[in-house]
Amino acid sequence: MDSIIVRGGSELRGQIPIAGAKNACLALMPATLLSEEPLTLTNAPRLSDIRTMTQLLESLGAEVSSMQGGKVIAMSTHDLASTRADYEIVRKMRASNLVLGPLLARAHEAEVSLPGGCAIGARPMDIHIEALTALGAEIELKDGYLHALARGGLRGGRVPLRFASVGATENVLMAATLARGGTVIENAAREPEIVDLARCLRAMGAQIEGEGTSTIEVQGVDRLGAATHRVVTDRIELGTYMLAPAFTGGEVECLGGKLELIGAFCEKLDAAGIDVTETEAGLKVRLRGDRPRAVDVTTEPFPGFPTDLQAQMMAMLCTAQGTSRLEEKIFENRFMHAPELVRMGARIDVQGGHATVTGVDKLKGARVMATDLRASVSLILAGLAAEGETMVSRVYHLDRGYEHVEEKLGAVGAKIERVTE
Ligand code: EPZ
Repeated sequence: MDSIIVRGGSELRGQIPIAGAKNACLALMPATLLSEEPLTLTNAPRLSDIRTMTQLLESLGAEVSSMQGGKVIAMSTHDLASTRADYEIVRKMRASNLVLGPLLARAHEAEVSLPGGCAIGARPMDIHIEALTALGAEIELKDGYLHALARGGLRGGRVPLRFASVGATENVLMAATLARGGTVIENAAREPEIVDLARCLRAMGAQIEGEGTSTIEVQGVDRLGAATHRVVTDRIELGTYMLAPAFTGGEVECLGGKLELIGAFCEKLDAAGIDVTETEAGLKVRLRGDRPRAVDVTTEPFPGFPTDLQAQMMAMLCTAQGTSRLEEKIFENRFMHAPELVRMGARIDVQGGHATVTGVDKLKGARVMATDLRASVSLILAGLAAEGETMVSRVYHLDRGYEHVEEKLGAVGAKIERVTE
């Protein structure tokens, strides 16, 4: 297993290229199942999760070829070979459940393993099931698999989501494109990844309005065609690297960054004393003064503060001036980075979904362990600020969502290297 070693104390200066969004690409790829025509994605990120999704789609009969080092993914699902998403793949990556809607729409049936829990929470699929049932699907749980049937095909309908679930919105949006009649999704998720998926589906011939708002309307069509779509910039990778100068001082320019992708996160950066300037090429970021200021953070669905940036923000607040309060309202167990940061000298008190961080002058390098994707990168950022050497183990978590971290941070002055144990 690989580990990453970081030596703290170097200022960061230079440009960091931001890749295409993992969480957009993982929803865009299953869209190939909706059409017999080719779907090509450009600006795709080079990540292990993308390779996992490729394996799943190939097992269902899609032809997938990646070009330009993985930045272009050409897919074509002329014929389906299977409608079963196997536990072995789904347990590795929850986003595998995004084949459920497309399979139901295309083949009127699907067998998708429940993903099982993951480090950050139970991750049930009840909202997905309610949403697809509203389109006429019959779904039952048998031996750990969702067995779904749409006799005579899906029919449009009113789909009130009791929570603005990102995955449920994506599953029912894709399903509705081929349902008979109109669909209205209420309390839909508003994340940029939803907007990106809707744009891609529209390019394939879908009739969709309202993406990015809480109400999305879809008029079903008989078939979808071919499309080429550029994956939207990854707002979570963007936010992660925008925080880096707050750990080290200096200034970085995140290439491809756009303010509209990061909603409330940007307001919190300003409150913490981090300057953000829009440039031709992206967003330039630097710390005002020599230490960030404490801020309170509550995670919410977009455009609120993203849960996927909570761990990185907590790491930054460990050396801020003052006391910060963080509330994690999206997942039930997403503070596992806290005890690792405490090993580096942070002062963090976790009570259920609340964490109180009292800023300390300096963190100390230590051996720490990554527990989930976003926690792993927060430990690397903490290592940039810490005295001495930090070794982050189990970085396979990191490779799921961040391409070439050591290259990107190393290129702007971080002392960082990957070692294979
Ligand atoms: C997506 O997960 C992202 N993953 C997550 O990113 C992200 O944290 C999450 O949205 C919230 O923004 C992908 O896009 C591949 P949800 P998803 O359905 O769709 C509960 C990362 O680090 N819920 O909005 O699974 C659920 O348990 C990952 O890149 C139900 O109760 O998120 C959670 O507590 C982590 N029943 C909350 O809703 C359901 O049927 C939000 O889940 C579905 C969800």
